[in-house]
Amino acid sequence: MHLAYLSSTGSPQIYASIVDITERKEIRNRLKQQFEDLEITNQLLLKTNNELDRFVYSASHDLRSPLKSLLGLSDMIIEDIKQENTVEVKQMDMMKSSILKLDNFIGDILSYSRNTRTEVAKEAIDFNQTIQDIITGHIYMEGATEIELNVKIKQDFKFVSDLGRINVILNNLFSNAIKYMDPTKENPYVSIDVKCSNDHAIIMIEDNGIGIDKKDKDRIFEMFYRATKTSDGSGLGLYIVKETLEKLNGTINIDSKSTKGTKIIVTLANRLMGLN
Ligand SMILES: Nc1ncnc2c1ncn2[C@@H]1O[C@H](COP(=O)(O)OP(=O)(O)OP(=O)(O)O)[C@@H](O)[C@H]1O
Ligand SMILES: [Mg+2]
Repeated sequence: MHLAYLSSTGSPQIYASIVDITERKEIRNRLKQQFEDLEITNQLLLKTNNELDRFVYSASHDLRSPLKSLLGLSDMIIEDIKQENTVEVKQMDMMKSSILKLDNFIGDILSYSRNTRTEVAKEAIDFNQTIQDIITGHIYMEGATEIELNVKIKQDFKFVSDLGRINVILNNLFSNAIKYMDPTKENPYVSIDVKCSNDHAIIMIEDNGIGIDKKDKDRIFEMFYRATKTSDGSGLGLYIVKETLEKLNGTINIDSKSTKGTKIIVTLANRLMGLN
């Protein structure tokens, strides 16, 4: 009810209006109920998500040990029969590469899961050592020995970040640079350049490989997206890189031309000050 007092004529007047708020009250109650329902659904979803995450992590983790045994066994058999040059040797090689592919896929799922489940660590990063370890981890990769490597690292500042996550990012980018080399080029190369400052690190990985077609550029960060038929991967690598960079307050920029090559620039925040 609204009331108004007017005294221009000398005598007080009263205007009153009555508004029925029953409907408003009903709407308010209904909204309150819907909000509470949403809250409950949200909590249920969160619980299911957490359980699913845990299930994916332990299932993937447990799948790895029988796979490792299979890998060991196939290596032993290949070693025994490799002199014979029979069809069985080829079949064993095919079996081994399928096991490796499965192992990579499980590795990708574990990296993804670890990134969503674990807190971001803060540790001193020595880029010389980190890059060296990444290169060493790829020496047996197909084609790696034919590629010229140029590495330039300038680190005059203490850099603090999460080593595990940095390894995931750089391993994926470096393995792509090797995997998508152009066998028709005379001088295939991969260049790595790291510059470190007080508040961030800039990491550049450049190759003169097959490059990425214009139509694929916006999609390569999608889950399971592969831009080349020749890729035997699962198309998860760059998706994981993007997700991991989000946790580190980092960015990624890709400049690529089909048949020319690819240049990737990653920036990472220096977490030294504890603000990032
Ligand atoms: N350096 C590169 N040169 C050329 N193409 C690339 C390069 N990096 C990525 N790509 C293209 O982007 C696609 C997506 O890359 P991503 O790393 O996500 O998946 P993948 O390498 O196919 O599989 P995975 O990394 O899961 O083993 C690749 O299939 C490839 O076509
Ligand atoms: Mg990849």
